[in-house]
Amino acid sequence: MAEVRTTSFGGLTIAHDERVLTPRTWTLHQSRWALELLDGLPDGPVLELCSGAGQIGLVVAAGTTRHLVCVDVDPVAARYTQSNAVLAGVDDRVEMRVRPLQRALDADERFPLILADPPWVSREDVGRFPEDPVTAIDGGPWFDLGHGPKSIGILGTCIKEAPEFSNRRRKVVHETAPRS
Ligand SMILES: C[S@@+](CC[C@H](N)C(=O)[O-])C[C@H]1O[C@@H](n2cnc3c(N)ncnc32)[C@H](O)[C@@H]1O
Repeated sequence: MAEVRTTSFGGLTIAHDERVLTPRTWTLHQSRWALELLDGLPDGPVLELCSGAGQIGLVVAAGTTRHLVCVDVDPVAARYTQSNAVLAGVDDRVEMRVRPLQRALDADERFPLILADPPWVSREDVGRFPEDPVTAIDGGPWFDLGHGPKSIGILGTCIKEAPEFSNRRRKVVHETAPRS
């Protein structure tokens, strides 16, 4: 049985265990940046791809009256997103989709702001991060996007496809990492 831990994140209490990524303090910048950007954006729900325990998007939901659509392929992460939404008092505005992001959206869905925090480690390097669950960080092999730098599988999918689902006045907040 995995031991449940809690981390304070942007004023929220986030529950998680060793099967999901521990909330990283620097990712709160994504929530804060999103909140600033949302001030100037049209109405509509926020989309969070690769939500993990849900903390980045939940801070945004708690700081606005917008709905939040979370996507994560991992059922354990999804359960934490849902229970953390209850803890944050925003569960009535949070929808969890437990699906690969490649199949999580209808073609006509549009979001004024998309948060994306995909696995950022190339498959060959996951052993460098023994404390992180492989399922949370394994971004697949590196591949060439065809213009400029190479990217990894899931990250590349987000970069290429997320803009399709955003409004014309859109914002997409990505977390990425340089190849080292
Ligand atoms: C880097 S973690 C980020 C989690 C969370 N946002 C955080 O900061 O702790 C990446 C997340 O993406 C999820 N994931 C991996 N592949 C996915 C896919 N194809 N579709 C949707 N989610 C995926 C993993 O389950 C994991 O929770």
